[in-house]
Amino acid sequence: MQTQQSPTAQSYTVEDWRKGYKSLYDEFDYAITDSEGQIPPDLQGTLFRNGPGLLDVGGDRIQHPFDGDGMVCAVSFKNGQARFRNRFVRTEGYVAEQQAQKLLYRGVFGTQKPGGWLANAFDFRLKNIANTNVIYWGGKLLALWEAAEPYRLDPQTLETIGLDYLGGVLQPGDAFAAHPWVDPDCNGEPRLVNFAIKPGLSTTITLYEFDVAGSLVQQHSHSVPGFAFIHDFAITPHYCIFFQNPVQFNPVPFALGLRGAGECITFRHDQPTQVVIIPRDPAGTMQVIPAESGFVFHHANAYEQGETLVVDSIAYDALPAVESEQDFRQVVFESLAPGQLWRLRVDLNTQTVERSPLELRCCEFPVVHPNRVGREYSTIYAAAAHQPSGNAPHQAILKANVETGDRQLWSAAPWGYVSEPVFVPRPTAEPDAEDDGWLLTLVFNAHTERSEVVILNAATMALEARLKLQHHVPYGLHGSFAFEI
Ligand code: CO
Repeated sequence: MQTQQSPTAQSYTVEDWRKGYKSLYDEFDYAITDSEGQIPPDLQGTLFRNGPGLLDVGGDRIQHPFDGDGMVCAVSFKNGQARFRNRFVRTEGYVAEQQAQKLLYRGVFGTQKPGGWLANAFDFRLKNIANTNVIYWGGKLLALWEAAEPYRLDPQTLETIGLDYLGGVLQPGDAFAAHPWVDPDCNGEPRLVNFAIKPGLSTTITLYEFDVAGSLVQQHSHSVPGFAFIHDFAITPHYCIFFQNPVQFNPVPFALGLRGAGECITFRHDQPTQVVIIPRDPAGTMQVIPAESGFVFHHANAYEQGETLVVDSIAYDALPAVESEQDFRQVVFESLAPGQLWRLRVDLNTQTVERSPLELRCCEFPVVHPNRVGREYSTIYAAAAHQPSGNAPHQAILKANVETGDRQLWSAAPWGYVSEPVFVPRPTAEPDAEDDGWLLTLVFNAHTERSEVVILNAATMALEARLKLQHHVPYGLHGSFAFEI
């Protein structure tokens, strides 16, 4: 059992932190009236967030938050006013389980149906939980989960329209990753670049590029030797870059119903990370270059410097094993390796990789200015720990200039626990001003047990406004901002 430490010694307590992992059963739609500060009048558009909204079904606990049903929140800003809405994605699994008021599916990260291993053995049905990201592209609002098709939602009401096959690009059962990038300038137009993974003894990576209307521009597939657990990727004008983390998958406990698929992945310290570089030109040739071991979920950005690719990512010394008997709510933060920002320089001529740290403060959910995606850049924003070293929950938003080493931190400690920051450029800003805009983040306040929408000035990292919601929002995953909605 974890011993609770005094709040004076630490910026957080685990007891406070876990209050943010409670189901939100209700769906809301209201104007936010309780606020501090002023919503910038030129901030116009909608912040969309996705994440697990339910941490239990009919009293049965979900083993890991990654298994929770997707709930999308929308915070719309207009003329200095804000409105909040949230709706669950009506996936097939969500609707069936809500009717039955019990878990009918196993989760990838260990959630088991009641009834022990016998009830779970050889049940390979995948529940599309649509809980990881939400994007607005080509006139469609799409909730994404990496192992299945997107769900389309009404961008105004968040009602579920249904599975979306992207105009026939996807087939039923196809995957579509939850981490698309928008290349800001592809022959003068923005373009959505995403991938899909088909696992197996060797892994098939399919790359998709869509124009602003949502029409497919190109699609090509590549086979990578071995099992791959790939959640995110990075892009440059000419390449898509994947890290094949050194993991091993043993499917036997999963097949026997003893463990979830995600619990059967083990990290291999003795193996390198493979950097998989696929040219965006479908005629190009894939390269695979080994690098030092480590585990990466998220990339911050990448760019080309001559024949060198620079890739900045949040890396962990190891993948924390998802333990089947362990409740994630009992986590001992200090015992885990922190996520830290590392730079890899991949020399395509010599096929060698150099690795160096950019930021050792525990951080995750990195983001850069949308115009700098795939280009040389200086400023990263991320959710970060309040304290400069060690692993801890994210209570602060970090702004790091990776060129000058300058750091600025806005902290919500001791009560606040932040989510991914979303950078919104000021509409009148110079296109290359990397911090002329706002950072939007949802903060869970453990004192009030409600959540707040926080607006920071990205240039000064000062608080512009804190909009208090009437309830909490469980800790979420990813989201985006749409100026059009
Ligand atoms: Co992610």
